Amino acid sequence: MARLKVAILISGRGSNMAALIEAMQPDDFPAEVVLVLSNQPDAAGLEIARAANIPTEVLKHGDFDSREAFDAAMTEVLAAAGVRLICLAGFMRLLSTEFCQRWRDRIINIHPSLLPAFKGLHVHERMLEAGVRIAGCTVHFVRPAMDEGPILVQATVPIAADDTADSLSARILEQEHRIYPLAVRLIAEGKARAAGASVALDNFALSEDRLINPPLR
Ligand code: GAR
Repeated sequence: MARLKVAILISGRGSNMAALIEAMQPDDFPAEVVLVLSNQPDAAGLEIARAANIPTEVLKHGDFDSREAFDAAMTEVLAAAGVRLICLAGFMRLLSTEFCQRWRDRIINIHPSLLPAFKGLHVHERMLEAGVRIAGCTVHFVRPAMDEGPILVQATVPIAADDTADSLSARILEQEHRIYPLAVRLIAEGKARAAGASVALDNFALSEDRLINPPLR
C-alpha cells in the first residue's frame, strides 16, 4: 500500500521532527516524510532535515501581509508536494481558520502537557508553579483554537520534588519522541480518526493497550 505523505512544520530545534524522520525511515513504516517546512530560515531543524535528505522549504511569515496569505502559501507548497498529513512539531505560529478547515483532520500537533490542561507557552514553568504531580505530553488533531482538538495519544511524566523547568522538559521530550511516531502510525494505518470532540480507535488499537505511555515498537 502507498505510504501516507507527511509534511513536518517546524520553527526551531526540531527534535520531534528528527524523531519522526527516524521513525519513518524504514520502508515498512506506513507513512513517509516528503517535506519539512519552516517559517524561520535559521531553524536548527532544517539542517537535520537536509542531512537526512528530506526536501525542505522556508516560508518567512514576515514576507506576507496577513496570516491568511501566509497560510495560503503554505497550502500551495504542501499540496504541490502531495501531502496528506501535516505534523506540527514546535511550529510556533497560530493557524488561520481557513487553513484548519482546508486540512481538517489532516493536521496533528504535539504539546508538552496533558491537554486540555496547560495550553500555550511556558508550560513547564507553569506546571511547577501550580504544583501538579503528573505532567506529560499530548498528540492531538488540530482545531483553530491553540492546542485544542481531539486527543490521539498521551504519555504521563511524574514530577519530582527537585525538578526544574529544564529537567522536566527533558523528561517530557523523551516521551514526546515516543508518542508522536505512534500517533502518525495509527492515522496512517487507518486505526485512529477524529470523531466529534474525541478520537475513535479501532479495536486493534484499543486492545494493544498502548495509548498511555506506549512502549516503543
Ligand atoms: C516541543 O516540546 C513541543 O511539544 C512544543 O514545542 C517543543 C518543540 O521542540 N510545542 C508546543 O508547545 C506547541 N504548543 P522541538 O523543536 O525540539 O520538537
